[in-house]
Amino acid sequence: MTIVLALMALLAQPQASESTPTLDFEYYKANVEPIFVERKPGFTRCVVCHAEGGRVGFLEEMERGADGWTEEQSRMNFEAVSRLVVPGKPLESRMLMHPLEPDAGGDEFHNGGRQFTSQEDPWFQTLSAWVLGETLQ
Ligand code: HEC
Repeated sequence: MTIVLALMALLAQPQASESTPTLDFEYYKANVEPIFVERKPGFTRCVVCHAEGGRVGFLEEMERGADGWTEEQSRMNFEAVSRLVVPGKPLESRMLMHPLEPDAGGDEFHNGGRQFTSQEDPWFQTLSAWVLGETLQ
């Protein structure tokens, strides 16, 4: 009887796989952050509209003449971008759903356009992997 109760208690514990993943900074810096500065034909780069100052400025302003963010700025970007995702839940994450094509499940309107054409879009996939807790190997 004791064994059965112990077993039941064990089974009632949430499984490790269901726990909330941690957002990894190194993965973010290597794979996610470059998305914000990359050029996609037909679209304006995210950084142009989302750098500091604006209401939706989740990215730091780069130093004049710099072609990237400093480590400290990347950390701040990481914090701000992290607030726009739900760890473990890409489809509930604003950072993924807002620029996604509505026909693919995305939000109806984004001033910056439907930059992710589908959930198979490489940028969407990278963001999704990060939200699911992917780390650099
Ligand atoms: C032409 C300017 C422009 C570009 C380029 C742009 N955005 Fe936006 N974005 C906006 C504006 C303005 C808003 C706020 C109004 C709205 O929801 O559209 C916004 C809203 C957002 C939001 C919601 C933010 C919040 O706080 O709720 C996210 C997430 C977002 N954009 C992500 C992106 C990503 C990722 C890219 C690049 C792939 C991008 N945007 C490119 C202008 C832009």
